Amino acid sequence: MGASYQPLDPHNQKPSSKKPLSFLSKPVCAWLACGFISLALLHLLCCSPAGTQRTAFSPLLQYINNTYSFVSSVPPRGDESCNYSEGRWVWSPGYARRYNATECNVKESHDCLRNGRPDTGYLDWRWQPAGGCSLPAFDARAFLTAMRGKHIAFIGDSMARNQAQSLVCLLSAAFPNRLLYRDADPRKYNFWRYAFPTHDVKVSFYWNPFIVKATGKSEDESIRENHVHLDTPGDGWGADADTIDVAVLGASHWLLNGAIYYNGSEVIGAHNAPAELNYTGVGYAWPLKMAYRTAVERLSSSRPRTVVLATFSPAHFEGRPSDSPTACTKMEPYEEGEKELDWICKELRDIVYDEAQAAKVRIAGASATRIEVLDVTKMAAMRPDGHPSVYMHRDPFAHGVPERMYSDCLHSCLPGPVDTFNEMLLQILRKRR
Ligand SMILES: *[C@@H]1O[C@H](CO)[C@@H](O)[C@H](O)[C@H]1NC(C)=O
Ligand SMILES: *[C@@H]1O[C@H](CO)[C@@H](O)[C@H](O)[C@H]1NC(C)=O
Ligand SMILES: *[C@@H]1O[C@H](CO)[C@@H](O)[C@H](O)[C@H]1NC(C)=O
Ligand SMILES: *[C@@H]1O[C@H](CO)[C@@H](O)[C@H](O)[C@H]1NC(C)=O
Ligand SMILES: *[C@@H]1O[C@H](CO)[C@@H](O)[C@H](O)[C@H]1NC(C)=O
Repeated sequence: MGASYQPLDPHNQKPSSKKPLSFLSKPVCAWLACGFISLALLHLLCCSPAGTQRTAFSPLLQYINNTYSFVSSVPPRGDESCNYSEGRWVWSPGYARRYNATECNVKESHDCLRNGRPDTGYLDWRWQPAGGCSLPAFDARAFLTAMRGKHIAFIGDSMARNQAQSLVCLLSAAFPNRLLYRDADPRKYNFWRYAFPTHDVKVSFYWNPFIVKATGKSEDESIRENHVHLDTPGDGWGADADTIDVAVLGASHWLLNGAIYYNGSEVIGAHNAPAELNYTGVGYAWPLKMAYRTAVERLSSSRPRTVVLATFSPAHFEGRPSDSPTACTKMEPYEEGEKELDWICKELRDIVYDEAQAAKVRIAGASATRIEVLDVTKMAAMRPDGHPSVYMHRDPFAHGVPERMYSDCLHSCLPGPVDTFNEMLLQILRKRR
């Protein structure tokens, strides 16, 4: 079992193995590899008569350019037969220190380092897929090259947002970004889009925690109920659907909590609604399927497009109250066998596989839309240490240790385990059809 945080004395932490952010290392290696060329170039620049510099310079620069692009734009492609969804986390010091989240404007409650989380061991793990294959480290150039000219939209709940922000950070660490728009309220991160002009790539997030159209609590937290229209795409992404080339859909948590479900104007049932309303109980599984179905139908078209269905990413409250400062305090991943997936995780994951399969059958021949599953359930389930916990607040123990304090045991710190979801996403998107 892992040790717990030592909130009483945040200075009394054993220093972690610090390693500088590693995203620079690949280009640096590439430049080192062509060091001899640079020396030659320097020689030319210093010692050639001025008139010959330009002509001598260009082919050489071209060559360096090509060498450089060759080295850096052909990163190891994942083994296409590799199933990344099963595996284990292996210790790999520094591997997950991929970016500085403050610089890519993530939601403050996920910026664990900025918020003062003292232990950084959660950034020392790499996902090792079962079966001997490997999951290559995220490569921003490979991602942008594969997605050149495309619009990638994450649609779903706050876990989908977590992954979308991770992607923006991973890309921004290597390439310039431009914020195209975001919510008017600066505390919200519900609708935004970034452009990566070097490759004409856009990344958007659409807050649709039921995927489909919802009113009530998801729009206004002071309202108790969710009213969910299973037959209608969510407002924002529904309107933009024709501009989306890659849609990553992720929702489950709000369906587990419950809602009143509609088809057209007719109530067809509810989950977790007050009994006196006499609604037919429909559980969470069937509405989840219907939501994915409506989305896939809206996104199916003759234009080649990819729809990625993400599986459930579980929380680690493990029955503890969420307002306890010790709700999730583990500092290491679970070991293999230490913790089995519970049946809800398995069921929710199976629903996504089943719905993806059903969608493939339904649209076969009729649409060029490609359906993929991003199965993150196991990798997420094994990482109780990767959540912000009390470091969802800035310097939570600055005024002593309060008895009650909310812990985030659901989302991932950024950087953190959710970055690995995007490493897997990259391999899925680079796969040949
Ligand atoms: C090097 O590559 C970049 C991007 O691929 C290109 O814009 C630039 O013109 C190239 N430089 C030379 C000298 O070929
Ligand atoms: C990958 O592994 C998961 C979990 O064991 C399984 O459900 C899925 O069918 C596998 N995928 C493929 C393409 O074999
Ligand atoms: C991240 O960047 C911010 C702003 O540039 C800087 O103040 C901070 O020290 C950096 N954090 C880390 C962990 O490097
Ligand atoms: C909604 O009603 C239509 C028309 O009756 C029906 O075809 C469709 O299957 C229903 N959808 C759901 C989610 O119940
Ligand atoms: C629910 O059913 C009970 C018993 O049939 C009935 O008395 C009550 O009025 C119903 N409530 C609503 C909101 O329809």
